[in-house]
Amino acid sequence: MQTSNEQLLNGVEEVLLMGPGPSMVHESVYKALSVSTLGHLDPYFIQIMDMVKVQLQQVFQTGNRLAIPMSGTGSAGMETSFVNFIEPGDPVLILINGVFGMRQKDVAERLGARVDAMEYEWGTPVLVDEVAEKLQRNNYKIVAMVHAETSTGVANPVEAIGELVKGTDSLFLVDTVTSLGGMEVAVDKWGIDIIYSGTQKCLSCPPGIAPVSVSERAVEILHNRETKVPNWYLDLTMIINYWEGEKRAYHHTAPINMIYALHQSLFNVLDEGLENAWARHQEYHKVLVSGLEELGLTMFVDPDYRLPMLNAVVVPDGVDEASVRSRLRKDYRIEIGAGLGPMAGKVWRIGLMGETCRPENVDRVLFALKEIL
Ligand SMILES: Cc1ncc(COP(=O)(O)O)c(C=O)c1O
Repeated sequence: MQTSNEQLLNGVEEVLLMGPGPSMVHESVYKALSVSTLGHLDPYFIQIMDMVKVQLQQVFQTGNRLAIPMSGTGSAGMETSFVNFIEPGDPVLILINGVFGMRQKDVAERLGARVDAMEYEWGTPVLVDEVAEKLQRNNYKIVAMVHAETSTGVANPVEAIGELVKGTDSLFLVDTVTSLGGMEVAVDKWGIDIIYSGTQKCLSCPPGIAPVSVSERAVEILHNRETKVPNWYLDLTMIINYWEGEKRAYHHTAPINMIYALHQSLFNVLDEGLENAWARHQEYHKVLVSGLEELGLTMFVDPDYRLPMLNAVVVPDGVDEASVRSRLRKDYRIEIGAGLGPMAGKVWRIGLMGETCRPENVDRVLFALKEIL
């Protein structure tokens, strides 16, 4: 049994990950994963935890005390963000233009929220004026949206919606799973109260952790809930006692080595400089788009609200999109993404996230697509 396991892992070849995530992982992060595992209450590990909190404050651009990695993928960050703040019957507005806005709605509804959804055509952004009008006429406990809609490649106007929410009693909740590390995310400046992300996109760490941050105002609302947080594992009122204070209390066994890896990947992003990282994503996105256009391909999203790290490309008529992806994987060891939900069969999604976003990778995918098409 063990032998066949070894054989299986020996067969894993390096694939150039140019899909919607996971992205390429830097050597230094793989090295961090293999550092000796410490106990979850070991004093040295607690020093690392404290450093990770500071690093998360820096990448989120926030003075929030609460900036911690939740155990689990981006969806655990999403669940954490809703389950801690919603009580049955709470009014919640969700701005939807893709799969992940739909997922937010599903999560909020399962918690008994009264969800009001504003839906926009996939491939187009949320419209600020319409949201302004909606907020003038209604009060919500939470206004939620997705910054970078990975299913379509659209950048949503989080800063402008944040300006609208600032004048209300609502908490502003934002998904930055795909955007964090690849484009500006400014929690305090944009008035975001609850934010979550994932490690496997522009942070270039393997999947498995969801960075989360919560404003002081939202923490107060959390502590004044009338009902208990209905999910034990993601209950921030308990998890805070593991991440903060003199005496750390066990809640669940932290994924120690993944936290080492996150620490290293945050170090890498901050060492490059946030603004340099955002500029790099813009630069090679432009190179990719012009190369794709030279091949006669069309982008799905208008340039004004295109994401740099997720490039949705229209599948040309008469082309079998799945066979192109499978040739890329088989003959060129490159993974790109298919369309998700209603976009299935209509687009390819080419990711330029974190470590993937390098000129040699752009050249490699363009060369391969040219040969195949
Ligand atoms: C915008 C967005 N939100 C949430 C998620 C869910 O994250 P995960 O698949 O890591 O649970 C994803 C994953 O692709 C995403 O792109």
